[in-house]
Amino acid sequence: IKQTSKDLHEEVSQVRGVVLQKSTCEYWNKIWDFQAKPDDVLISSYPKAGTTWLQEIVDMIQNDGDIEKTRRAPTDIRMPFLERINPPYVGLDKANEMPSPRVLKTHLPVQLLPPSFWKENCKIIYVARNIKDNIVSFFHFQRMNKGLPDPGSWEEYFETFLEGKGLWGSWYDHVKGWWEAKDIYPILYLFYEDIKKHPRREIEKVMEFLGKNLDEKVLDKIVYYTSFNVMKNNPMSNYTLSSLMNQSVSPFMRKGVIGDWKNYFTVAQNERCNEDYREKMDDTTLSFSMEY
Ligand code: A3P
Repeated sequence: IKQTSKDLHEEVSQVRGVVLQKSTCEYWNKIWDFQAKPDDVLISSYPKAGTTWLQEIVDMIQNDGDIEKTRRAPTDIRMPFLERINPPYVGLDKANEMPSPRVLKTHLPVQLLPPSFWKENCKIIYVARNIKDNIVSFFHFQRMNKGLPDPGSWEEYFETFLEGKGLWGSWYDHVKGWWEAKDIYPILYLFYEDIKKHPRREIEKVMEFLGKNLDEKVLDKIVYYTSFNVMKNNPMSNYTLSSLMNQSVSPFMRKGVIGDWKNYFTVAQNERCNEDYREKMDDTTLSFSMEY
């Protein structure tokens, strides 16, 4: 019998009310006890907010714009994804094996971040994306990623997402939680939409945050090599080397734009989302642009 990609889709469970992959939940105590080091840099985001983009930007900055060095390995090997437990890929082990200085990735909401990151005062770069594009991107990702549960229909997915019952929990809690944390800890909080509109300016922010000083030419080079089309064609950043992703269903580097939600949201869904958004974002100064 031919096995469909759906058969491989993983189950989920919860940690403190947040839906995570079952394998992550089974490893939870070890993840929580993870020992961060003071010179670790953590890239954090809600899934599909532009994590891989930021990872490429950070790596290029740290390698002074050297493409060969940046292309030494696929993204998830260069920067371990802490809570991803898909043997043989065990993010936690990859992180522990890695020599310092390390750059790590997580999608954990702020309340689930292993406390050693706070204790060691690690530099953290958070990237957030407007809710509407974030939902659409995540929906396509769950369709193509065999390690994640099947998303079901777009209508079902949309509701589950707004209710905060999707993977990695509520988008609202995630973006707001990290927004509050930035007033206390060394967190650079970035927006996908800003990087899209002003890549050079935002890349410079990252550079300064990392304490680097690169000249204009190197910055230009980083802007170019981290642009959507270049990353889409780079096997070290487009996840084509990952067997978990069926890119014929939907490519990892899918569209890379602001406002693609307009191609998916019905008028009713847009109204429902706007209303939900107004209510749940009432208690924050955080704001997003949903169109270019
Ligand atoms: P789309 O599905 O909307 O195309 P993550 O890395 O957090 O999983 O996020 C993936 C999303 O970021 C995808 O969004 C992907 O196309 C987009 N992305 C990745 N690199 C990008 C780049 N250089 N420029 C713009 N968008 C990028």
